[in-house]
Amino acid sequence: MLPALTDTFGNPSSVHATGRAARALIDTSRDQLARALNARPREIIFTGGGSEADNLALRGVVRRHSGSGGHLVISSIEHEAILETGRDLNRLGFELTELGVDEMGRVSPSNLAAALRPDTVLVSVMLANNEVGTIQPIRELVEVTRAESQAVFHTDATQALGKLKLDVEELGIDLLTVSAHKVYGPKGVGALYARHGTALDGVITGGGQERARRSGTENVPGVVGFGVAVELAEAEREVEMKRQAQLCADLSRRIQSGVPDAIPTGTPPGERLANFCTFAFPGIEGELLLMRLDRVGICGSAGSACTSGSLAPSHVLLAMGMSPELASGHLRLTLGRATTAADMERAGDLICREVTALRQRALSA
Ligand SMILES: Cc1ncc(COP(=O)(O)O)c(C=O)c1O
Repeated sequence: MLPALTDTFGNPSSVHATGRAARALIDTSRDQLARALNARPREIIFTGGGSEADNLALRGVVRRHSGSGGHLVISSIEHEAILETGRDLNRLGFELTELGVDEMGRVSPSNLAAALRPDTVLVSVMLANNEVGTIQPIRELVEVTRAESQAVFHTDATQALGKLKLDVEELGIDLLTVSAHKVYGPKGVGALYARHGTALDGVITGGGQERARRSGTENVPGVVGFGVAVELAEAEREVEMKRQAQLCADLSRRIQSGVPDAIPTGTPPGERLANFCTFAFPGIEGELLLMRLDRVGICGSAGSACTSGSLAPSHVLLAMGMSPELASGHLRLTLGRATTAADMERAGDLICREVTALRQRALSA
């Protein structure tokens, strides 16, 4: 990223040599991301993050139907970037169905089939959930959508990038969101994959950059960082996910032996993101647990770190049928490249110690 912040400072839209050099950096990143997704470079639209890519997907598709209206289907456990955008479009006159999920957070293809209508213009179901790591049966959901409607299919794959193999041909989707910071790239950069031929209008209008789907001078250093980060993440993905799955299994064993009534949430290992370790602790105030863990150097969250500062029971856990009391005792731990086996031993001990201490305190109160 440093050359893009220093020597190669040209505007990629300029035709002079410095501009062309900056354009070449963006082209390289586009190739890198396209390779990771098995897409064509021209199908990649760089954005200012995952939320913006989600907005572009939903608003860019429905724009074609403004005036005539239409029906949108999303799942009830989407990230707020989809949920709130869907609800906003609903206020603007589009009909919205929020599909329920089972107790592990999965959308059922038959429920989707029942929700589809002749006027459904878009279906958006996330590939992997950001609070419990549940992976959706996207291929089957796409098949149902194709069989029953003309709708465009979007998936928010922000959490899945670098964790699962993302092949847009195998998935069969039309639109797919990714974000750089999930693969150790810079924050504030993302992309939308848009299958060639998908009816999608730009939402940010202006100079016509990114094939008129996202106007504005490109964030060249950010885009460069994204391209390199995704290439590095893909190179180590299989080995790293195997390693993190083992660490997660070890941490889960430690938590369950120290707190036998801890309830694992989401789908079982093998059907969830390998770096997710999530539990609900009955009778525990999650907020207090998080504060105590933070004091001993464990960075966890209750629901999702993406919902800024919110400590209300998570809409995801409630949609999975969890009571508000149990949902407020939820702990979400995610592992990463830097997590070690020694971290698991220490985290396991400290989590069990803090949960036990909170329970003893509640008993003696
Ligand atoms: C599933 C999902 N979608 C969208 C986003 C938003 O991405 P960004 O923070 O890049 O806007 C996030 C959070 O990071 C996420 O986890």
